[in-house]
Order: sequence, then C-alpha cells, then structure tokens
Amino acid sequence: MGILRRVHLKTDSEIELIKKSSLLVGKTLGEVAKLMKPGVPLYYIDRVAEDFIRDNHGIPSCKGYCPGRGYVPYPATLCLSVNDVIVHGIPNGYVLKEGDIVTADCVASVGGWHGDFAYTFAIGEVSEEKRLLMERTKASLYEALKFAVVGKRIGDVSHAVESYLKPYRYGIIRELCGHGIGRSMHEAPDVPNYGPAGQGEMIRPGMVFCIEPMIAAGTHKIKEDNDGWTIRTADGKPAAHYEHQVAINSKGQTEVISTYQYIEEALGMNN
Ligand code: MF3
Ligand code: CO
Repeated sequence: MGILRRVHLKTDSEIELIKKSSLLVGKTLGEVAKLMKPGVPLYYIDRVAEDFIRDNHGIPSCKGYCPGRGYVPYPATLCLSVNDVIVHGIPNGYVLKEGDIVTADCVASVGGWHGDFAYTFAIGEVSEEKRLLMERTKASLYEALKFAVVGKRIGDVSHAVESYLKPYRYGIIRELCGHGIGRSMHEAPDVPNYGPAGQGEMIRPGMVFCIEPMIAAGTHKIKEDNDGWTIRTADGKPAAHYEHQVAINSKGQTEVISTYQYIEEALGMNN
C-alpha cells in the first residue's frame, strides 16, 4: 500500500521502540482473543481494544487513517474481518456466531512507531474447510519467516508463501501485500504473497517489515463494499489472514517482534 519507495532502515534503538508498540498490539490482541465467542458484537471488541491501547499510552493507528484522496478515513481501531471478508472489515453491529472465523488486525503506535499484526480466530466449532484454511495460512506465514533473513530477498519470502500453499489450490490475494513499517504504518518495501524467488529488495540490517498472507478458500478475486474499506472474496468463500512483524537488527539477526503469546494464552493453547 505504501507510496514512498525508499526503505527506511532502523537502528537497534529504533527497533526497541517499535518492539514496545508490537508488545502493546500483542497484549491488545490478547484482550481481543477473550471476546472471540458467540454473542459478542464487533463494535464491543473494537471498543475494548481502543480503551486498552489508550490506557497503555498508545494510539490506535488505523482510527482516522486515510491512505489518500478519495478515501474515507478508517473509522475504527481494529479491522475485524468475518468469514468472506478478507481485510479491512469495519467493526459494526454484527454479532459473532458459532462457526464464524474472524481476523483481528491491530495497528498501534507508542511514541510514533507502529506495531502491526493480525490473527484469525475460530468462533466455537468451525467447518473443516475453515479450520484447514486457517491452519495452512498460518503455516505459510511461518514458512515465509524462514526466508526473512539476511542474504535472502523479499521475493524469496513472497515465493515461500506461494509455494507452501500451492498444493491446496487456495486463492492468494494479489491486490494486498505485506509492507515495511516504522514511523509510518506502510513503508517500502511491499511484501507480496506470491511471485518468483530471487527478486526484490535484499533483506538487510535495519529493515522492519510485516509479512501477512491473505488467503481465500476459493478464488483469489476480490470485491469491495461501498463503505470504501471492506474487501471480500468475489465468490463468498472464507478467507484467513495472519501477520507477523519482523526486524533485522544490526547484527543481521532476524527478530520476530510481534507475538501471539497473549492471544494463544487467552485461547488456552499451550505453545
Ligand atoms: N494491517 C492493516 C494493513 O496493513 C491495517 C489497515 S488499517 C486501515 O493494511 F486503516 F488501513 F484500515
Ligand atoms: Co499490516
């Protein structure tokens, strides 16, 4: 989504500041995770997230965010994307029900640096189609993380997602991609979820970027609602989306600065 093409490299102390924001996002999503059950309305989850961020001296980055002329400012703290909504679902009066899947995507800043990551939740028991889609989308993210290392290129990360998912014949969303992040929510480089290996920016110390496979059970084609934000699968099949944020420190080590720890504790998963 970014339009500034130069990669802004960060110092180790700047990476430490970004980590604070990522930690706040992690804890916020931990609170969100506790509400992912039947009967809970989306706007309530959003309010809890906004209050939690502000109580912890953060600012919700999406609220009021406007990517350019002609866009409506984004009205909420979280993106809550249910079932066939891929991304940018606006938290509204919809009440969660058994069998839904919902992606919570949260961006927050502390001291002007942004943390950004996302997780797809199952509401109660979900269909096998949804369960496998979630499992494999998450696994594709962890596969991609193996390539987010010095000496590889962004295209290697992109290719890892695509090649991992190839056997499943899912739809890989093409219009949306991961991104660099720092003082802005979206910076160079773009991190697509498909494409040839060996292309794109060299991964190097100081880079901070988000990897976020957005994957549909059916077609890769999308359609947009007329609210200016909500993006759905064109065929109405479900989509999943997991996002992690990585930093390459001055020693050339990759640090995953996002954390699912608080989410998975809240969900009672032990890993
Ligand atoms: N994590 C989402 C992204 O990278 C956040 C979008 S917030 C919004 O696109 F304001 F653009 F909705
Ligand atoms: Co993002």
